[in-house]
Amino acid sequence: MSLLLDDITLTYPDGRGRLTALDRVALDVPAGSLTAVVGPSGSGKSSLLAVAATLVTPDSGRIVVDGADTAGLGPAAKAALRRERIGIVFQQPNLLPSLTAAEQLQVMAHVSGRLERTARGRALELLDAVGLAAEAGRRPHQLSGGQRQRVNIARALMNDPSVLLVDEPTSALDHERGAAVLDLLVGLTRERATATVLVTHDLAHLERMDRTVTMTDGRLTPAPAASR
Ligand SMILES: Nc1ncnc2c1ncn2[C@@H]1O[C@H](COP(=O)(O)OP(=O)(O)OP(=O)(O)O)[C@@H](O)[C@H]1O
Ligand SMILES: [Mg+2]
Repeated sequence: MSLLLDDITLTYPDGRGRLTALDRVALDVPAGSLTAVVGPSGSGKSSLLAVAATLVTPDSGRIVVDGADTAGLGPAAKAALRRERIGIVFQQPNLLPSLTAAEQLQVMAHVSGRLERTARGRALELLDAVGLAAEAGRRPHQLSGGQRQRVNIARALMNDPSVLLVDEPTSALDHERGAAVLDLLVGLTRERATATVLVTHDLAHLERMDRTVTMTDGRLTPAPAASR
């Protein structure tokens, strides 16, 4: 269970030229560890997650998930890889309004063709792990912002991913709820041995990460929390 990004360059079309969103980026995330990515708006943090998730194909460089290079995979194989090995938590909890918390998770298993009854058990177990056992039957409008974000995280874990990619999970939350979500992510990373990458603006919690890197204009530099 690991994620390796090797010499990734990503450009977007920009007028007559190209905008370099990622400039020869390298990142090695071992199982059970959490790397925080910080940096200014527009520096390339979300682009990095999109490449790691195989949602965006870079101009050059390698993405290696669990030791396997994703380069040769076609769209269907990449979709299967995302479904089975990669958990993605977007900034906005994009939950379906009509489904209960448990059903939000069960949908994931449905997509990957798992048994309905197993899925229900797993959904309840994960909701319990994120502290929402009592809220399993609630719909998004009956949950707080922090609770919705925890459902979002639990959903990303539904298919037992090797790689967990999380984009600004605390930006909509107050300090205390943000800290609780980060605690949860640190705990889940250890317990489930995921290779976790977390984009965050929340510099207060960086000492709890295994490593912090800084993105500046598409370039990644090491930035130990202590020096910030
Ligand atoms: N689909 C796209 N097409 C063209 N340019 C893009 C696209 N997505 C992002 N960009 C540009 O690439 C650069 C990096 O964007 P990215 O979303 O990765 O930044 P970010 O660090 O996540 O910013 P923020 O903190 O605001 O979320 C920005 O200059 C952005 O305008
Ligand atoms: Mg972003």
